[in-house]
Amino acid sequence: MIIQFCGLSGSGKTTIAYGVKNLLEGHQGTRVEVIDGDEYRKSICADLGFSKQDRVANIRRLAFVASRFSGHGILPIICAINPYEEIRKEVAGQYVQVKTVWINCSLEELTRRDTKGLYRRARLPINHPEKIANLTGVNDPFEEPVLPDLILQTDRESPEQSIGKLIEFIGLQGSLFKKQ
Ligand code: ADX
Repeated sequence: MIIQFCGLSGSGKTTIAYGVKNLLEGHQGTRVEVIDGDEYRKSICADLGFSKQDRVANIRRLAFVASRFSGHGILPIICAINPYEEIRKEVAGQYVQVKTVWINCSLEELTRRDTKGLYRRARLPINHPEKIANLTGVNDPFEEPVLPDLILQTDRESPEQSIGKLIEFIGLQGSLFKKQ
């Protein structure tokens, strides 16, 4: 199985992915690899920006890496904004047993948290030197997934609740170690 997250920056993707990893590896011995957009953008995706074309290329690379882990029975969680339905569908069609999980959080709550200060910067006047011109959800698109396999509503549930729901979902899928 491959899990592909989608959700806005700050919605809780990394927290949930590592929470699931820690619990599954601690209690059940299931190995999990968190494939984090922020991390890969510093290494093999360092050449990519935030245009649609670059975001699509980013997800394609992360999904390819995920498929290699999955082939060895390690559960990969692709942890990226992943904002376009087209590439999410492509990934789901290309690899075996891909599950799309929407980490959903209202923009109000994200703006309130703003852990990286990105939402403040996206709303600055156009000529401001710190302005971000293409922040997903503010001035760049986020296409809500059509028929996701699971939705975690992180502005209404605690991280522990979201982690618990995802672990339960994974357990229900059964053949976790299906090879590519
Ligand atoms: S994706 O759209 O290609 O899936 P990805 O998850 O890899 O994005 O990277 C998103 C991260 O890059 C954010 O969590 C944030 O830290 C950083 N970032 C910087 N600029 C932007 C931007 N304009 N839009 C979205 N994320 C940005």
